[in-house]
Amino acid sequence: MGEVSVTRSTERSAALFERAQRALVDGVSSPSRGPLNYHPHPLYMARGSGGRMTDVDGNEYVDLMLAFGALIHGHAHPRLVDAMQRAVADGALTATASEVEVEVAERISAVHPSAERVRFANTGTEACMAALRLVRGYTGRSKIVKFEGHYHGWADAYSLRSNMPGGPDVDSLGIPAGALADTLVVPWNDADAVEQALDANRGEVAAIVTEPVMANLGVIPPVDGYLTTLRELADAHGALLYVDETVTGFRLGAGGACGRFGVRADLVTFGKALGAGFPVAAIAGRADVMDALAGGAVLHYGTQNANPALLAVVRESLALLDAPAYADLERLADTLVAGLRDALAGENVLVQYVGPMLQVYFTDGETDAIRSYRDFGAHVDRDRFNSFVHALFDEGVYTSPSPALHSVLCTAHTDEDVERVVTAARAAAARI
Ligand SMILES: Cc1ncc(COP(=O)(O)O)c(C=O)c1O
Repeated sequence: MGEVSVTRSTERSAALFERAQRALVDGVSSPSRGPLNYHPHPLYMARGSGGRMTDVDGNEYVDLMLAFGALIHGHAHPRLVDAMQRAVADGALTATASEVEVEVAERISAVHPSAERVRFANTGTEACMAALRLVRGYTGRSKIVKFEGHYHGWADAYSLRSNMPGGPDVDSLGIPAGALADTLVVPWNDADAVEQALDANRGEVAAIVTEPVMANLGVIPPVDGYLTTLRELADAHGALLYVDETVTGFRLGAGGACGRFGVRADLVTFGKALGAGFPVAAIAGRADVMDALAGGAVLHYGTQNANPALLAVVRESLALLDAPAYADLERLADTLVAGLRDALAGENVLVQYVGPMLQVYFTDGETDAIRSYRDFGAHVDRDRFNSFVHALFDEGVYTSPSPALHSVLCTAHTDEDVERVVTAARAAAARI
């Protein structure tokens, strides 16, 4: 990673990092927030308001990371703060049935084409784990087809990034081979590869598991008709289609990616934007599939499931997510992407986006698009992106320095924020 000289003071962040390394592993609470991506130290944030964040040294940033996409309304939206304060005053957690869980489930079913029944969980990882057990429990089959570079949380069975002839690329130490024995990994955006995997494992595949927009290697859209082909292939092989909408749900429209691309999933999972900044996730899907959870037949428990205080915030957040809110997000994204393409025109840069999710890829100049995990590995200049983002920090814009993550816009962002980002990008590119 090339060092970028900075003009803003981040002294207090530096001191906190020094201290934090003695108390916390890597000085942070998740590897992507630490020395893996940030140098010479992470920026310690103090507070956020709307589409902006302020660090402990008082520097302000337009926030395009938005808690990895969780903050669909930005920081501290007054109506969400108010909903939370009122709900907490009523007792935050009952771990009983509650009216608000019925209301929010009804709302999700009303707007998402694949959500006939809903079950709440707390994080995307947890919802994806429950979905895995559910597809296996419902079908009585063990294998899943997943895709190279897709992420569905950090559970063992999903933690196989690729399985090319050179050998498996496993996400973590500590995963026994048996946990991955039923995980088939094929390239995404390649319908033939899925068909071959299903043919070679006839009658054994419980589900095709996919992100609908590849969001853990930047932003890679599905090629035309691809998700519909996955639907058809699943049907032809008696497998379920499980679409992981943790990133796309309530971001690409009220109906998520399924609504946007016109695909019917048997099962979906939500997290991030659903919780609007709080740990609320959900599994949803076809009634008969979801009903396999009934009575704990497929077991999914959780003391914190459907926390009423958090769901009171979600109810308010979903009420704010009307058609004009989504239309505004799309318009802002079009403006931002056009501005970034113009500002970075002199560079080997591709800006890819779907609605308010976008990524700037610094490439080797040998491709006109990043369409897959393999393209990403072959063409993306990770170090240059990392330097670019560190220069952006100094220009007052925050996003993840990892090119595998992506930027998002929220309903609190304004045209002025977009202009600031474009100006900062122009300046940052000139500095690296
Ligand atoms: C597609 C997808 N699924 C699941 C997850 C896991 O969600 P969480 O971080 O809430 O556990 C993520 C997180 O980035 C994700 O991108």
